[in-house]
Amino acid sequence: MDTATLEDIAQRMLANGKGLLAIDESTPTCGKRFADYGIENSEDNRRDYRALLLSAPGLGENISGAILYDETLRMKMADGMPFPQMMNDNGILPGIKVDTGAKDLAGHPGEKVTEGLDGLRERLAEYHAMGARFAKWRAVITIGDGIPSRACYRANAHALARYAALCQEAAIVPVVEPEVLLDGDHTIDRCYEVTEETLTRLFAELRDQNVHLPGLILKSSMVLPGKNAARQADVGEVAAATLRCLYASVPAAVPGIAFLSGGQSNEDATAHLDAMNKQDAGAAPWRLTFSYARALQQPALDTWRGDNANTGPAQQALLHRARCNRAAAQGEYDP
Ligand code: 13P
Repeated sequence: MDTATLEDIAQRMLANGKGLLAIDESTPTCGKRFADYGIENSEDNRRDYRALLLSAPGLGENISGAILYDETLRMKMADGMPFPQMMNDNGILPGIKVDTGAKDLAGHPGEKVTEGLDGLRERLAEYHAMGARFAKWRAVITIGDGIPSRACYRANAHALARYAALCQEAAIVPVVEPEVLLDGDHTIDRCYEVTEETLTRLFAELRDQNVHLPGLILKSSMVLPGKNAARQADVGEVAAATLRCLYASVPAAVPGIAFLSGGQSNEDATAHLDAMNKQDAGAAPWRLTFSYARALQQPALDTWRGDNANTGPAQQALLHRARCNRAAAQGEYDP
């Protein structure tokens, strides 16, 4: 394992308060996002939309890397330039989602396990040759009556750790993403307990698999009440609970934590990140930044609406959210 290369990539991903842009929706998920605006889920539309985002002028000032889907990594700009080359020219590291999705966990109704380890070594070698320097794998943990089960925590943590080890062998930085879902009516305290258990189990498995922690990035959900909970939490409470949970469960050797937005509003995702950085004031051993999909893209998609005449304003909408979130990653967001 080339630990120096891995550490260098991870540091570049976290430099100067920058964060990650997630545009790794699978083709069906992209179709769902497009359907909200009546946009046809065609290959041309997917290419135009992703090209618009990745080539937004100056995006690299606030975004260090973008997570793509297999199809997107293989796409070309209108002038024939491959996406990864255009991204590198814009100062954006190419990343790739490599899991093949969350499937029902046998014997455990209502729970999922993420698949994709078969053939992963070969796929990573191909992705590296195409320019990918980091990867992502997302596990989902659902909170409900009697769940998560021990089996769900363990199966997902084990798969994440096996994926991370394979990435590092291929000189690719693993973004390790266990998402505790916002769905449900659970309290913020219940989310805290589940997130702490998820992360504790994950880091035990990463250690067993000899994963080099300075060469990975944790992509975590925040500690929030369920979206249907009777009592919602204010920004300061979410930030404090999330920080407490991370301090209790994430080793200091991890260089950075890039949050997912998970269905929070654009403004909430920014405000929570900002509040964490303000409360912590640089004390934490890890950088706290963003790796948002919906909370970065939504205003751009809402502006583009499938019409390339709107490309310029859609790019401005993305750049605005990217600037807000970079400010938040430095505790300097001023709404
Ligand atoms: P959201 O920010 O929309 O939750 O997406 C992040 C992501 O990459 C989910 O895997």
